[in-house]
Amino acid sequence: MLDTPKIASISDTWSGQESLSHLYYTSKEVYDVDINMITDSQWLLAGHISQIPKRGDFFLFEVGIENIIVTRESPERIRAFYNVCRHRGSRICTKPAGSVRTLTCPYHSWSWNLDGTMRGAPQMPAEFRKELYNLHEVHVGVFEGIIFLNFSASEPPSFEEFVCRFRDMVQPHQLAKTKIAYRKSYPTTANWKLVAENFQECYHCGPSHPTYCSVHSKVKLLGFIGGRSVGTTEAVAAFEPLMVNWEEKASAMGHYTGRFTDDCDSPHMQQGVRTPYLTDAETETRDGKLVAPFLGSYTQSDGASSYAVFCPLNTALINADYAVLISFIPRGVNSTDVECIWLVHEDAVEGKDYDVARLIDVWDTTLTEDKKIVEDNQLGVNSSVYKPGPHSYMEAGATSVVGWYLKQYGRYMGSGRT
Ligand code: FES
Ligand SMILES: [Fe+2]
Repeated sequence: MLDTPKIASISDTWSGQESLSHLYYTSKEVYDVDINMITDSQWLLAGHISQIPKRGDFFLFEVGIENIIVTRESPERIRAFYNVCRHRGSRICTKPAGSVRTLTCPYHSWSWNLDGTMRGAPQMPAEFRKELYNLHEVHVGVFEGIIFLNFSASEPPSFEEFVCRFRDMVQPHQLAKTKIAYRKSYPTTANWKLVAENFQECYHCGPSHPTYCSVHSKVKLLGFIGGRSVGTTEAVAAFEPLMVNWEEKASAMGHYTGRFTDDCDSPHMQQGVRTPYLTDAETETRDGKLVAPFLGSYTQSDGASSYAVFCPLNTALINADYAVLISFIPRGVNSTDVECIWLVHEDAVEGKDYDVARLIDVWDTTLTEDKKIVEDNQLGVNSSVYKPGPHSYMEAGATSVVGWYLKQYGRYMGSGRT
């Protein structure tokens, strides 16, 4: 078994242009550090406000071994609590979602108000002080209808700093006025870092994602997505005029065209960018045709999607007519839930305004392919002969994820909070 100093020292062996060594993807001790580090330092995408429209509505969110009740306390306030009874530890809510007036443990009926304060505990001695047994709370942040959680036992990282740079890009889509058209979990037998690295590189898109490649231009895949604008000089030069042309078109429509990309020194390694699809495509569908009513203030498509990477564990991809929220939720050393939520306008009617099969086609296909390739990646990494090989320049995004992770890991190990 590894002790803490050994875990700290293995981060010194990374060359800077390759995947991590075996232990990072297979060690329970490393995973235990990871899960504390992630839940402490990041805001995790847990769901959308349309899941809990009324007071007392709740859904459960699971990460690592934790199970969280996310509930609406009032029209203005969403709260989250560990689903752990303060009596003898039972789960309090046992259904994945529902609606309650109070949170009541089924075991011996201790109960709590929706703000987490204790309401009552039957047949307890006179000296029992119920104010000592409020529920353990989790920090909640809501941005444009997207619910994020942070598990820090002290002050969480600033939520405003976490979301502020996305505001101008995301606000026009008005995601708070959407609803979930479909959601799907892709339980993936792989370490969360393999899932995150895979999502940030498009070196694998050609061999693995024929559908995705059919709706994005090769010029973009090589000159932009392949490596956050660090493809070959020729590829970047080929893509840039497409981007400039699109920016002129989008600006003329009054649409947002800014972009930013954090380096791996940043706490959340965020990226916000809008990029065009194939010429003439209006949205991210196989035929490029719109699949649902426009979102927010959009009244026409400018032929691009908004790409918001809040941190390497969660991303929003927003088109003129629909959005997908994708999150990677670590559940064990080689177990990650990839969760995808498809959002459409809150007034859209299934069967009339949108067809679920068409809506989910591109991303369901892509995420199903990703599950397979990442699981195969983990199987190889488990082998005694696995050694990290060098990254292509097309994998600059994966290189950044690894660099970001190691910096986070080193900082966290040095913080004494492990
Ligand atoms: S364990 Fe919940 S009331 Fe006893
Ligand atoms: Fe992929």
